[in-house]
Amino acid sequence: MVDAILGLQWGDEGKGKIVDFFAPGYDVIARFQGGPNAGHTLYVGDKKVVLHQIPSGVFHEKTVNLIGNGVVLDPVTLKKECDIVASFGVDVRKNLFISKRTNIIVPTHRALDKASELAKGNDKIGSTLKGIGPAYMDKTGRNALRVGDIIDHNFKQAYQQLRSKHLQLLANFNFNEDISAWEQEFFEAIEFLRTLNIVNGEYFINDKIAQGKKVLAEGAQGSMLDVDFGTFPFVTSSNTTSSGICSGLGIAPQQIRDILGVTKAYCTRVGSGPFPTELLNETGETLRKLGNEFGATTGRPRRCGWIDLVALRYACMINGVTKLVMTKADILDHFDQLEVCTSYKIDGQETKEVPFQMTQHAIEPQWKSFSGWKCNTSEIKTFSALPQTMKTYVDFINDYTGVKVSHISNGPGREQLIATE
Ligand code: GDP
Ligand code: IMO
Ligand code: MG
Repeated sequence: MVDAILGLQWGDEGKGKIVDFFAPGYDVIARFQGGPNAGHTLYVGDKKVVLHQIPSGVFHEKTVNLIGNGVVLDPVTLKKECDIVASFGVDVRKNLFISKRTNIIVPTHRALDKASELAKGNDKIGSTLKGIGPAYMDKTGRNALRVGDIIDHNFKQAYQQLRSKHLQLLANFNFNEDISAWEQEFFEAIEFLRTLNIVNGEYFINDKIAQGKKVLAEGAQGSMLDVDFGTFPFVTSSNTTSSGICSGLGIAPQQIRDILGVTKAYCTRVGSGPFPTELLNETGETLRKLGNEFGATTGRPRRCGWIDLVALRYACMINGVTKLVMTKADILDHFDQLEVCTSYKIDGQETKEVPFQMTQHAIEPQWKSFSGWKCNTSEIKTFSALPQTMKTYVDFINDYTGVKVSHISNGPGREQLIATE
């Protein structure tokens, strides 16, 4: 049996915290896509940890963690992260497994990402510059190196071949930054990777399922960054939606049970691209300040706005979300009035559908207002104790999306999560 937790907006919905909360109920936590562009924050005691490559179940002794074939892996980031989790007493050689089919991010991928963004100028995607796009291009272009390849004694030669291809591409971009320091740490990290558990991920996970073990698939990024269904071309390069679970882990669709979709009580986006409900005013600033909306991976300020129910309902549809988890509800404690976007006006026409190409239209969000609750909700432990005004806000989201909010998160801590029934 497989359940999933994935983001329904433009990433940073609080997936790390939610996976960490639910992890004790599972035997395996598996990342199925994305790479070090992700930054998943959780707390171990009062210590904040941001995970980029390692699944967010790593701090639970009884769960094992799998980096699936759908992920792109930067060995350098992985090594650093392993050191961090080891400092908490976690033994990655016991509870971390990596699929042989996972694609490797090489230093020239990072250089190509940078060169491509520079060449795009004002039209840049706002990539995290972690090499994600170039690494996935090499996967679909059938050039990539995969984790299973590092066991082969010809790895260095295969690496040199790929590197030469990349250097030609970089020359076309007139990009000639020295990457030798990156290469040195890359090969050190490859040596380290060799000491970890490298497995046939698809057999690993299907054996677990056959043994009756419970698997939790952890998504990275968010549905509106999906390469097919997001705000293309301002997206990431993987399927962040539930379809990515099957191809990113090697499991069959009928194994999947619940899809928990995580949404903030409002909305953020980092990087470029359309964001219909963005607030370029003081309210947006207030959301950023109260929500501490700065990227967990790049530190960039996140763009902020009210919740977009058109996009949220679309994400529920694409993913087959069975339960919603609403995070950062406590950040709305401070507002007199809240707005939610219930439709878009595009060229004078009102629609509740996400258009094919958001970038070519001026989208005017249509709002419905709600009263704020104006009290501190971060200490509340039960649904019945939450203010009625918050329940009214949540009920509207339930009705609009047709999916029930099953949990409300009212703070960054593991214990700050309220079940709605
Ligand atoms: P992820 O990428 O989806 O895992 O999310 P990030 O870790 O990038 O960003 C979410 C941020 O919000 C982190 O700093 C979390 O500690 C924090 N957070 C998560 N849930 C809540 C919540 O309910 N309330 C508050 N105030 N912060 C939260
Ligand atoms: P988590 O898992 C928020 C955004 C980047 C950029 C676009 C493409 O923490 O939610 P990429 O590096 O993938 O080429 O960047 O996608 N992006 C994210 N935004 N959270 C993330 O991950 C993101 N991963 C990528 O800002 O706009
Ligand atoms: Mg994040």
